[in-house]
Amino acid sequence: MTQNLANPLPVFHDRDCDLSIIRGKRVAVIGYGSQGRTHALNLRDSGVGDIVVGLKADSATRAKAQADGFAVMTAGEAAAGADVVAIMVSDEAHRDLWRDELAPAMRPGAALVFAHGLSVRFGLVEPRADIDVILASPKGIGPRIRDLYEAGQGVFCLFGVHQDVSGGAHALGLSYAAALGCGRKGILETTFAAECESDLFGEQVVLCGGVAELVDGAFMTLVEAGYPPEVAWFECFYELKLVTDLMFERGVAGAFAKISNTAEYGAYLTGPRIIGAPSKAAMDQVLAEVRDGSFVRRLMADYDAGSPELLARRKALGQRTIEAVGTHLSDVAAKAEE
Ligand SMILES: NC(=O)c1ccc[n+]([C@@H]2O[C@H](COP(=O)([O-])OP(=O)(O)OC[C@H]3O[C@@H](n4cnc5c(N)ncnc54)[C@H](OP(=O)(O)O)[C@@H]3O)[C@@H](O)[C@H]2O)c1
Repeated sequence: MTQNLANPLPVFHDRDCDLSIIRGKRVAVIGYGSQGRTHALNLRDSGVGDIVVGLKADSATRAKAQADGFAVMTAGEAAAGADVVAIMVSDEAHRDLWRDELAPAMRPGAALVFAHGLSVRFGLVEPRADIDVILASPKGIGPRIRDLYEAGQGVFCLFGVHQDVSGGAHALGLSYAAALGCGRKGILETTFAAECESDLFGEQVVLCGGVAELVDGAFMTLVEAGYPPEVAWFECFYELKLVTDLMFERGVAGAFAKISNTAEYGAYLTGPRIIGAPSKAAMDQVLAEVRDGSFVRRLMADYDAGSPELLARRKALGQRTIEAVGTHLSDVAAKAEE
């Protein structure tokens, strides 16, 4: 499953994509949150004239979609008339939405588009055999994708075809991804499984779980040793953005070329002590739990119980000392502007 540069993924750009395909379709965007709003607006600005939005009757985002000029209806009604159904709803809700509203409504030969492979990879959605199933997963949070699109730029997109009954799923998926603006940057072809498993692993180990605990663990080490919390906050949290921005622009080696020799030398000595054998073993374990489905089973069990664990952990996170320091320093900065 690993890819290396000797065997790079196929990459597509605007010149490889036929926008007229998606422009000729009626698209139902189900959900109008981070991704849904961006998909609907970018598709419309790319010339897709027939877009409807599917939401629950009591949805908090209904007014926003209407204010943006879209016809809003229930998910089932939106799907019933659509050639392409883009499921832009949080992953835990896919199972019930598919079973109760989309599966009974979708036309034979229509296409179902996902922005994340989770529900197909782990069987929460078992697509009907008579529809196309496509992954178009832009690598960015929704509002950022929208901002870049409006600036004439785009983000990378992971793209895949799970089911192609029409014979046109590949071209349709590329057309959809290009309409999001991703053909300006690069649409990389992969599989639902590779996108989903690596996405879950990356967000848990590095981007969200790993970074949050690394920052808080280091911050609390300084605080418990008697350093002023504000100073600890600058060193363990605030400057993270400066360094990761450098890494984003130049790569890790390029960023290290820009930091002081002291910081660079210390990084070589200490980085492998912090991320050593126990952390590597934990990473292997996390990957195993992602791949064997135990993580998704736990996610859905919590969701089915009303999300008690998610809500309790969210509350505890907000009560950490580091959050209070961040709020205090925001207040300090705001006073300067008064
Ligand atoms: N967030 C990102 O930047 C990002 C990045 C890449 C991929 N993705 C993927 O994109 C998909 C959407 O995620 P998101 O973060 O954009 O979600 P989100 O911001 O939480 O928005 C979810 C939207 O779906 C609606 N919704 C929820 N349950 C529904 C139902 N049963 N029927 C109809 N509408 C329903 C919500 O409306 P209410 O207000 O009524 O609940 C809301 O408009 C997911 O598959 C996710 O993995 C997200």
